[in-house]
Amino acid sequence: MLNNRYVRKTLLVIIDLTIFILSVLLTNWILDPFLKPDHFFNFILAVFVPVLGFFLVGFYRLHLSNSTFEVFKRAMWVAVPVFLVIWLTDSFRWSFVNTAFSFSAILIVRGFYRMFYEHRNKSHEKLPTAVILGAGELGCAMARLGSKGIFDHKILGFVDDDPALQKEIILGYKVLGTTNDLSDVLNRVKPETLIIAVTSISSEKIQSAVKAAKDAGCRIKIVPNLFERKGRADVSPRDINFADLLGRKLIEVDREPLLKMLAGKTVLVTGAGGSIGSEISSQLLDYEIKKLILLDIDETELHDLSLRLLDYKKEWSDDVVPIVCDLKNRNKVEQIIRQYHPDIIFHAAAYKHVPLMQLYPEEAISNNIIGSYNLFKSAKDNAVPKVVVISTDKAVNPTNIMGTTKRVVEMLAAAINTEHVTEFCCVRFGNVIGSRGSMFPLFMDQIKAGKPITVTNENVIRYFMAIPEAVSLVFRAATLAKGGEVMVLDMGQPVRIYDFAQKLIDVFGDGRSSITITGLRPGEKLYEELLANDDLTVPTDDKLVFKAKLSETNLKEEDFMEFMHKFPEMDRDEMIRWLKFFVPEYQPSTKK
Ligand SMILES: NC(=O)c1ccc[n+]([C@@H]2O[C@H](COP(=O)([O-])OP(=O)(O)OC[C@H]3O[C@@H](n4cnc5c(N)ncnc54)[C@H](O)[C@@H]3O)[C@@H](O)[C@H]2O)c1
Repeated sequence: MLNNRYVRKTLLVIIDLTIFILSVLLTNWILDPFLKPDHFFNFILAVFVPVLGFFLVGFYRLHLSNSTFEVFKRAMWVAVPVFLVIWLTDSFRWSFVNTAFSFSAILIVRGFYRMFYEHRNKSHEKLPTAVILGAGELGCAMARLGSKGIFDHKILGFVDDDPALQKEIILGYKVLGTTNDLSDVLNRVKPETLIIAVTSISSEKIQSAVKAAKDAGCRIKIVPNLFERKGRADVSPRDINFADLLGRKLIEVDREPLLKMLAGKTVLVTGAGGSIGSEISSQLLDYEIKKLILLDIDETELHDLSLRLLDYKKEWSDDVVPIVCDLKNRNKVEQIIRQYHPDIIFHAAAYKHVPLMQLYPEEAISNNIIGSYNLFKSAKDNAVPKVVVISTDKAVNPTNIMGTTKRVVEMLAAAINTEHVTEFCCVRFGNVIGSRGSMFPLFMDQIKAGKPITVTNENVIRYFMAIPEAVSLVFRAATLAKGGEVMVLDMGQPVRIYDFAQKLIDVFGDGRSSITITGLRPGEKLYEELLANDDLTVPTDDKLVFKAKLSETNLKEEDFMEFMHKFPEMDRDEMIRWLKFFVPEYQPSTKK
């Protein structure tokens, strides 16, 4: 019955009227014989006016389960004027006693109602029990859902590292300890699930939480982070995956400069079907752009992406236009840029696999260098205001052909940059977690199939970042860059691949997989360069974005033209000689 809105409202109005009447009688009885404000006017003021006031301030529209402060605040909006008016028309004493009685009783009734409501919701279902790691915003969001009975776990308490919260009760749930006591807490309260609900957590902490949960025999889940939720309020926990084990950084994005750069603009994304291009495309839709042109050579990825961006309702529209195009096709690139006049281009199309590109330098050069040149030339000839080039840590002191081609692309962008016509900027970063063809999804497939995990060398380390975070920082870097610059993202701490592979086996394995060392692949380095280094970079206004200090480049237009002219006839050795000429720091690895 109480679920019916109107019945509930009517019941509350009747209860409130009864309280106000009883309060008048009680006040008269207590203060008698000194004062007797029993005339009609006072009765109206003390009984009907507050109820009318409650309607006016929306008191009866409040949902009691989630607005304790709001209930109190709105009650006071009515209580204070009623108290003042009765004081003026009668006496301070009568007004004070009556208002104190009536409004305290009103709030107590609400409190009981809420207790009853929460108890009913908590007790009527047999839900799996859970301890929440993190009593911050995300943890509290779940506790609120728990109180309303719309959370699919019964919460037993929180674990949080804040010393001030220890043993406190937050939204009805006790803080049971810190992450240092996690194993003890789990063994003591024996939850069925440990739910990680934090926006920022180190990989060490998350890995030890996973281990503690595994040792205590409970499942582990995690609340999706802001980027994953893409603005949705839904905080339903999901199963943990390999990317979570690398920890979480809280990357706050200031929307204003991004909106200034993007709102109302036509934006072209090359390599839109790829891991980075598709995330760029999907995040762009959050910034009120006018038109999104998706360019890729891979028609299937392009088809899937545009369907996804258009909510599976259409394959293309006037605002989201997929274009199948190979950047090596100079005329077609020119025609696209002329037709759509983009305001900004994000250039993410490239070949990226180091060992394969060692085998096919002609493909790495024609796709990465000549493809980029075609795009840059058309952008400049058609006065596209801004081109943002996605680069990689492999372009720094490269030892392989792929990395060297990317360094040449950075140099081309700087050389072609023209103030007041087209600003070119490049953004360098390390590996993104889980991109197509990258090592961790491969490790996971190997673990699922019970096969050995193939790590190339025990000492290989790499820097990692989640794709959505990397893309949001690419946007940020693009707002900070002036033309001709190479921006660099802070990738945090490096990860030792061997150790991480072992963690994946521990968490997701079933005892069948172990690590096999296969030896460094052609062109592969043990360590990628640390990008955001004081000697190599200067800070910007954003603490996660740096500007690279670059030495003079060898890339002159006439040399590049000669290279392009001779390229179709070149053999491998000549190609490598040219790459070394453009990028003197290129140290070809001995392996082919
Ligand atoms: N994946 C990473 O970890 C990572 C990290 C830092 C930088 N990067 C750089 O970002 C870029 C994109 O990487 P990704 O992981 O998204 O790769 P990806 O392979 O997922 O995507 C690249 C996309 O470009 C398209 N493409 C390639 N050549 C093209 C051409 N000639 N014309 C049109 N489309 C073409 C491909 O079809 C593909 O869809 C690369 O330059 C890479 O070096 C990648």
